[in-house]
Amino acid sequence: MSLTPTKDDKFSFGLWTVGYNGADPFGGPTRPALDVVHAVEKLAELGAYGLTFHDDDLFAFGSTDAERQTQIDRLKAALAATGLVVPMVTTNLFSAPVFKDGGFTSNDRDVRRFALRKVLRNIDLAAELGAETFVMWGGREGAEYDSAKDIRLALDRYKEAVDLLGQYVLDKGYGLRFALEPKPNEPRGDILLPTVGHALAFINELEHPELVGLNPEVGHEQMAGLNFEAGIAQALWHGKLFHIDLNGQRGIKYDQDLVFGHGDLHNAFALVDLLENGGPAGGPAYDGPRHFDYKPSRTEDESGVWESAAANMRTYLLLKERARAFRADPEVQEALAAAKLGELAQPTLGEGETVADLLADRSAFEDFDADAYFGGKGFGFVRLQQLATEHLLGAR
Ligand code: GCO
Ligand code: MN
Ligand code: MN
Repeated sequence: MSLTPTKDDKFSFGLWTVGYNGADPFGGPTRPALDVVHAVEKLAELGAYGLTFHDDDLFAFGSTDAERQTQIDRLKAALAATGLVVPMVTTNLFSAPVFKDGGFTSNDRDVRRFALRKVLRNIDLAAELGAETFVMWGGREGAEYDSAKDIRLALDRYKEAVDLLGQYVLDKGYGLRFALEPKPNEPRGDILLPTVGHALAFINELEHPELVGLNPEVGHEQMAGLNFEAGIAQALWHGKLFHIDLNGQRGIKYDQDLVFGHGDLHNAFALVDLLENGGPAGGPAYDGPRHFDYKPSRTEDESGVWESAAANMRTYLLLKERARAFRADPEVQEALAAAKLGELAQPTLGEGETVADLLADRSAFEDFDADAYFGGKGFGFVRLQQLATEHLLGAR
């Protein structure tokens, strides 16, 4: 298997990722701004297939129509020259002061109307560029204080916004779907739709749930101490994995946005195995972009930016190769069988069996030897995890 990324691997990057200038709450930029044309050229050279962006990444908030158009034209020319595509577009409803209490759920109605206009305009641009997914990360949709936000009303307004945007896309005949991106906190003390589970429940309340799925991010679930791979498995189970943000996070702390795999490597291995080999027939379980939402650390200069971009893709491909070796190992197959993983696919009741049949089945209860599970009938999960670890370390 080749470790050189190609367009078939569907690796994409946010313009704000490689474009991150190093500014954080404690210090200003450590790198100069990156021009979009240069970013497109470098990403294409490294083997990426896609670029994603927020409106404000491409043209500054408050740009004139002419300035905006110039930047769109420059991007289009760079895409045409390199063959890079724009699979996803998103809107910045978090940087400008006007969004300090959120966009769709600001307590200030005028701000909510302005936010909708900003997003509608950007949806037109997304459709024009052929994007398939429109991500909505509501970083400022939240509060610091319980008394500051009526959560039920805020969810009403969130639903109103997503319903309106969905109807707009349908009316326009755009081929776009929406992907909500959960995050528990940062920049707000608490953010609405904080986890994959909250967002899935919200989608069920929408007018057009079929238009809306998720864009989960590794670090966001891990900031809440949750298992990202397990969250992705559930999103797939609901048919809602529309897009994915890959990066690295080391435990419950601020959003680190490290290179993919530079955090919980075991979970990254399990994730790649799921995405690549977890389909119903053993093939890929997800065929969308492998999108990196990371930040090149502020300690790096421009060469470090491109090294870190390449590192995301190389780590993904290394894990894909390790997951292939894991699946192909006869001892792993034997350990999987011994751990009864296949048995979980078997329905708990037999075909046509009723509750009455279950109640009449003495072997299920009266004659069942539950005591055998004390000091016996181990599942062998630790052995399986060690085999995964050995493959991960290249020891097998
Ligand atoms: C973050 C988020 C963002 C979003 C982006 C796309 O924590 O800052 O992950 O990077 O992914 O705004 O909507
Ligand atoms: Mn993030
Ligand atoms: Mn993200």
